[in-house]
Amino acid sequence: MRYDFDTVIDRRNTDCAKWDGMAPLFGADDLLPMWVADMDFKAPPEVMEALRERLDHGVFGYTRRFEPYREAIAGWFLRRHGWQIDTAWIRHAPGVVPALAISIMAFTQPGEGVLVQPPVYYPFFSTIRGRGRTVVENPLKFAGGRFEMDFDDLERKLDDSAVKLVFLCSPHNPVGRVWSPEELARFGEICAARGVVVVSDEIHCDILYRGVRHTPLASVSDAMRESTVTTVAPSKTFNIAGLATAAVIIPSRRLRDDYQSLVDFMHIDGGNVFGALALRAAYEKGDEWLDALLEYLEGNLDFIESFLAERLPSVALVRPEGTYVPLLDCRSLGLSGPELERLLVERGKVALDGGHWFGSGGDGFARINIATPRALLKDGMERIASAIGGL
Ligand SMILES: Cc1ncc(COP(=O)(O)O)c(C=O)c1O
Repeated sequence: MRYDFDTVIDRRNTDCAKWDGMAPLFGADDLLPMWVADMDFKAPPEVMEALRERLDHGVFGYTRRFEPYREAIAGWFLRRHGWQIDTAWIRHAPGVVPALAISIMAFTQPGEGVLVQPPVYYPFFSTIRGRGRTVVENPLKFAGGRFEMDFDDLERKLDDSAVKLVFLCSPHNPVGRVWSPEELARFGEICAARGVVVVSDEIHCDILYRGVRHTPLASVSDAMRESTVTTVAPSKTFNIAGLATAAVIIPSRRLRDDYQSLVDFMHIDGGNVFGALALRAAYEKGDEWLDALLEYLEGNLDFIESFLAERLPSVALVRPEGTYVPLLDCRSLGLSGPELERLLVERGKVALDGGHWFGSGGDGFARINIATPRALLKDGMERIASAIGGL
């Protein structure tokens, strides 16, 4: 393999959230971190090369993103996902979560409802509540080892006229589903019939396992194109989250103008010279590296499955179709979310995101970050087994 994912890189003392920022959340910093969704791998050499060259130039004044930047985004989505984006639809955000927060302010009023599908990425809740909007839950159903949308409940909840906006997580963190074209079409019909705006958070869209394809929600129908705000970024895919650069794709002129007016008001359109460069290098030259990464991650999933079968059959991997942060189903242990978290931290010395952090339906699960060298994954699984095995 041309790329190396096996070398363990010491990330301590780099101001990284995953290794240096554990204590406030887990009460200890001597744990093996398998939480927060970034990777323990170096960014692609193609990205590092572009950054190095720019670093050597030495002048880092105000920066702008020009047409080649937008073309790199459009090129990637056409190549990888068959989605034709007009570059005029592309807007900027310093991250996907900031784009969610801006959307809350742009498309809803205080007191109005925003629908989410828990268990789901927890900043969905804080962005909604942070500006006095109301969380409306359309919980996912878990059956036969797989999470699914509850369409009847979705219809009922949207018929509550206070819901003006829907946050879709596609692919879904943490349940690992890559929604099928049929599921998205049905979801889209239900939303379009009620005239709600959908923010489709597609940040995980490049992390797809064998035989799975991602469908952008905005591509499923004309109605969805006109009512969807799609958030994407190269940050998860290429491990460049610290460069704080995301793209927001808004085909509707009206929604785009509403979004942009807030970006202008907050003066956050300038962006970061390294983030912009890294995005371009990644989307223009990152295909081969990503294909190699996906193979490695698939190997990590296989490793976890055989480890659990042999050593810890009371725990099951909810095998993901996409994302590198799947759930471990620990419900057979009969522990509450906080009890499970404490057990893993205190007995296993390992830090995972608690399933209960993701809201309804997350209790009894733990989310594991598999984007790490096999040696660290093995260490983590041993720790989980030593914490749980003795129960
Ligand atoms: C669904 C989802 N959206 C957004 C983010 C973070 O986005 P950003 O770092 O660009 O704000 C994450 C990170 O885990 C995520 O899982």
